[in-house]
Amino acid sequence: MTRDGAEAVACTGLAHAFGETRAVDGLDLTVRESEVFGLLGPNGAGKTTAIRCMTTLLPVPAGMVRVFGHDAARDRMAVRRLLGYVPQQLSADAGLTGRENVALFARVFDVPRRERAERVGQALAAVGLADAADRLAGTYSGGMVRRLELAQALVSAPRLLILDEPTIGLDPIARTGVWEHINAVRAATGMTVLVTTHYMDEADQYCDRVGLMHHGRIRALGTPAELREGLGARRRAAGAPDTDPLPTLEDVFRDIAGSGLDEQSGDFRDVRSTRRTARRVG
Ligand SMILES: Nc1ncnc2c1ncn2[C@@H]1O[C@H](COP(=O)(O)OP(=O)(O)O)[C@@H](O)[C@H]1O
Ligand SMILES: [Mg+2]
Repeated sequence: MTRDGAEAVACTGLAHAFGETRAVDGLDLTVRESEVFGLLGPNGAGKTTAIRCMTTLLPVPAGMVRVFGHDAARDRMAVRRLLGYVPQQLSADAGLTGRENVALFARVFDVPRRERAERVGQALAAVGLADAADRLAGTYSGGMVRRLELAQALVSAPRLLILDEPTIGLDPIARTGVWEHINAVRAATGMTVLVTTHYMDEADQYCDRVGLMHHGRIRALGTPAELREGLGARRRAAGAPDTDPLPTLEDVFRDIAGSGLDEQSGDFRDVRSTRRTARRVG
């Protein structure tokens, strides 16, 4: 496993606007092979838009996106073959069993017919759903649905797994379960993971490196420890006592985004879409 190795994703000057809204506004970002990279930021920061450009679901109107060396604007099929994507919205069908849901993705992603049954079983086992595989997904808890969607993305054995807010709306125990399965799969396969979240505490605990995104751009980048220690050092240089507790990632974010963060984070549309997502897994 090459933790400091080759680049999995590289974005330079990526921009994407919806009318007047500059959702992504000059994003520079490199995700290294085999790391768990967290793209963090409040609702409306531009995380989903950036990710949809990387997955080729949105065009790249300005700047450049490369996935394992393939240009996302010019070589879309090559990029798509390399990645698994778990969107923020529901992607599992309540009327199918867990196994049927994963089998559907195996077909869509061209897993060879002879290998399908075995690969579907492996993906379900990897997320702890072997015993529940033949129940309707509609009977699953929120955490199980999210793990099923993880299995759907894993069945094609992607080199890059992209997850958009994988733990939104879940209770703390279910959240931990989702993260533990993500990490176990990464450890077993060396797969690169790019995950968005607005839960800073989770990123601190589970991501190798994080990028803090605000108004369409990366404002700080590093390991969680580097970012927290950096702010701690700046505060001490400004006269804070040594006995002050180490800042959290949330503190780092507030330091970057300023006091207007609460008022600026997202608009009605963001609130509505977040709530809708939260409700469907509740
Ligand atoms: N399809 C869309 N049409 C219009 N505006 C959009 C659309 N998608 C996102 N936006 C706007 O772009 C900005 C960034 O949104 P998004 O990328 O979803 O942020 P995040 O995922 O960080 O919450 C927000 O202001 C949002 O309202
Ligand atoms: Mg989003």
